[in-house]
Parts: sequence; C-alpha cells; structure tokens
Amino acid sequence: MKNWLRPIILFLISLGTLGAVVMISGLIPISASSGHWPITAWILEFSMKRSVSTYTLTKESPHLEDQRMIQRGAGHYEIGCKQCHGGVEKTNIIGLHTTPKIPHLPPVIKEWKPEELFRIVKHGVKFTGMPAWPSLQRDDEVWSMVAFLLQFPKLDWKSYQKLVHAPGSEKIEHDVLRSCSHCHGLDGNGRQTGAFPLLSGQNAEYLENSLKAYAKGERHSGTMKIVTYNLESEMLKELALHYSKQKRRPLVKQSVDQSAIEEGSRLAKMGIPEQHVASCIGCHGPDESGLTRKPYFPDLRGQPADYITTQLDLFLKGKRGGSEHVQLMHKAVHTLTELQIKNLALYFESLEFKN
Ligand code: HEC
Ligand code: HEC
Ligand code: HEC
Repeated sequence: MKNWLRPIILFLISLGTLGAVVMISGLIPISASSGHWPITAWILEFSMKRSVSTYTLTKESPHLEDQRMIQRGAGHYEIGCKQCHGGVEKTNIIGLHTTPKIPHLPPVIKEWKPEELFRIVKHGVKFTGMPAWPSLQRDDEVWSMVAFLLQFPKLDWKSYQKLVHAPGSEKIEHDVLRSCSHCHGLDGNGRQTGAFPLLSGQNAEYLENSLKAYAKGERHSGTMKIVTYNLESEMLKELALHYSKQKRRPLVKQSVDQSAIEEGSRLAKMGIPEQHVASCIGCHGPDESGLTRKPYFPDLRGQPADYITTQLDLFLKGKRGGSEHVQLMHKAVHTLTELQIKNLALYFESLEFKN
C-alpha cells in the first residue's frame, strides 16, 4: 500500500467510529422542537427544489381554468390538506411545531410552476411528512388540485367556504353524510356544475359496490379513497341506500349539441359491431320500463358528460378499476375513439331521469 494512503484510511476509520459512537450514545437531537441545523435545512430545501425541477423538465400542464377542476381540487383540499396546511389566512397550529414547519400555501404558490406543483402533490416529499397522492394511477385528480392551488391565493374566507361547501351542507347532523354532502349535496345531485357524479336515484347495489371498491383501492380515486377508507361496510351500505332514494335533478346545461346527441344515441343503441363494441343500453338501460338490466349496472341518465368522458377515458387506459363486475365494461369499450366517447357522453347526459 502507498505510504500516503495509510493516514487517510486511518483518518476515515476514526471518523466513522466517532460517528457511530455519537449515534449510539443518543446525543443527536431528533426532537422536532430543536428544528434543523441551518446547513441541514439548506441541503434538504435545495435538494427538494432541484429534484422537483429536474423531474418536471418534460411535463406539460393541461388547461387549468376549468371551474369543475377547481371545485374538485378545493373539495379535496378541505378534507385532505387543510389539517396540515390550514385555511386561507394561516397554516394549521400543528404546522408551527413540526420540523420542517408546514408551509402556509397561498404565499408560496407563485414560487412554483404548475408542473412543479403537480410533482409535489402527486409524489409528496421524503423526510418532511408531506404525503403522496393517495392513488397514483391517474393524473386528472392531481391536476384538479393544481388548478385549485393556483386560485388559492386569490380567495378570502367567504369565497373559500362557498367553493368547498354545497349550500346548507354544514347544518347536516349525521357526521359522515355531512362530509359527503360538501361535494355531493345531501340529495346526491352534486353542485349542479358537473364537477361531481350524480348519486341520486342510482342503483343502491352499484353505489355500495363502488364505495367498497374505492375503500379497497380497487377503484382508483385519491379523493374517494380518503373519505371511504376508514368507514365500516355497514356505513357504506347505509350511505348507498340514502343516495339511491334521492330524487335526481337534471344538470344546468351550458350548451346542447343536438347532432352529437343523435350520433351518441345511435351508438348507444346499436353498438359498433365493426369495433366489437356492444350496445350500451343493453346493460345500462334505459329499457322499455326505464331500468338497467341488473342492479349492479350504473344508470347513466343525466350523468354529467364531463364525468362520463373521464370514466370512459380511464376505462380505455385500463385505469378505471371498479367492482367485481368491471371486466364486463372493459370488454365493452376498449376500442372507442375520442369522438365516439364525446357523443356517447352527451347522449347519456341529455336523457331525462324519471324518478
Ligand atoms: C401531514 C401533513 C401534510 C399534509 C396532509 C399535506 N402536506 Fe403538503 N407539506 C407538508 C410539509 C411538512 C411540507 C414541507 C415540505 C418541505 O419543507 O420541503 C409540505 C409542502 C407542500 C408544498 C410545497 C410548498 C413549499 O413551497 O414548500 C405543497 C404545494 C403542498 N405541500 C401541497 C399539499 C397539498 C395539495 C396537500 C393535500 C393533497 C398536502 N400538501 C397535504 C405537510 C403536509
Ligand atoms: C371532496 C369531494 C368529495 C367528497 C367529500 C366525497 N366525494 Fe364521492 N366523489 C367525488 C368525486 C370527484 C368522484 C368521482 C371519482 C372518480 O372519478 O372515480 C366521486 C365519486 C363517488 C361515487 C361513485 C359514483 C359513480 O357514479 O360511480 C360514490 C358512490 C360516491 N362518490 C359517494 C360518496 C360518499 C358516500 C361520500 C362520503 C363518505 C363521498 N362520496 C364524499 C367527490 C367527493
Ligand atoms: C356487458 C355490460 C356492459 C356494457 C355492454 C356496457 N357497460 Fe358500461 N358498465 C358496466 C358495468 C358492470 C359497470 C360498472 C363497473 C363497476 O362496478 O365498477 C359499467 C360502468 C360504466 C360507466 C361508469 C359509470 C360511473 O358512474 O362511474 C360508464 C360511463 C359506462 N359504463 C359507459 C358505457 C358505455 C358508453 C357503453 C357502450 C359503449 C357501456 N358502458 C357498455 C357494464 C356494461
């Protein structure tokens, strides 16, 4: 061995031994109350910013001004982020006493590009307690959160409340139903904006199957996972029953594209034999008596076109998941084109639901 190497190796061994002794002695402060040393805080922050920037070099953000996305993002913020990051004015009290401190978001949003916010919200931040999105299979929910975060700095307390709570939902006594009603309304008719699926009048068996699938992570939705994961199956059944008994109200529609609806109607009734797509109404109805063929098929009448489009798109990408019956649907739609999806969605949205 070269002479000059010996002292270096000896020095490194001593340093390692000293480190091990300090660690074993328990002298390193791991308490949150003492905060990070400035050098540790700098290294962690610098690495986080570099990592976020590098991983988003090729990512492009979609259109983020859609009111429905903002409403969904806001709803999720209220139940999944506010407990740490706080409301419009300040961070939550626990955030002042953690290491690192939990930032109040409105003042820092402008420091990030939308793609960077997407990265942070989807994957979380190691060593900080900032969690990843509860369901990693799909990106549309995370983009909705980014759409909301970009609006967050412009909101005051009143406009925030209006965005996250359906009118009257705060007054509901049943705890769980109150939490569902902020987004779905007590009557399951959503917010009348098309941001949320209609639950009113839906087959109870389908609703219950869906809630169980969300809770088990077999149907992928970060938002629906956090609200169902801790609930007992009896409660899920009760909620499904409640919503199935409500009266379905039609959406307030912005525009009606009659030729698209007619084309959608033709596809839904006849199927598309050359693409091996079966007739939708054969399963989903409405048949002559207005019913679906089995109680585990969802009734699609009056469901927002935007929601149907998202679900069909997820089915095509193999990311919808669902109940044990979902493979019937995967087989039924795997070759649909974007235009066919749009027409089918507008057709089902246009159908009147007779309670
Ligand atoms: C358990 C507490 C906790 C929850 C829940 C949480 N966060 Fe965080 N979040 C943190 C912490 C801690 C940091 C600081 C990370 C750091 O210092 O690098 C953070 C950082 C962030 C940042 C980066 C801000 C900045 O400039 O450092 C964004 C954006 C963010 N969170 C958004 C969200 C959203 C959106 C949600 C809900 C989906 C959420 N967080 C849920 C704890 C939490
Ligand atoms: C923060 C808003 C929010 C809250 C709170 C919420 N939901 Fe949802 N819910 C959604 C969104 C968004 C979807 C669509 C998810 C998807 O794409 O799969 C959804 C989907 C559903 C579906 C599936 C509908 C269908 O046609 O397949 C059911 C059932 C449901 N929610 C019931 C509930 C119940 C019961 C609660 C309370 C325990 C609840 N939701 C709380 C936003 C919410
Ligand atoms: C063989 C029966 C069958 C056929 C044919 C079928 N579906 Fe389905 N579909 C299902 C089942 C079963 C589900 C529920 C999956 C679950 O439980 O998660 C479903 C779910 C859906 C959903 C999700 C609803 C929601 O609220 O989330 C949409 C949208 C849908 N189907 C549209 C269509 C369209 C459009 C067609 C025709 C192109 C079609 N389906 C053909 C059986 C079928």
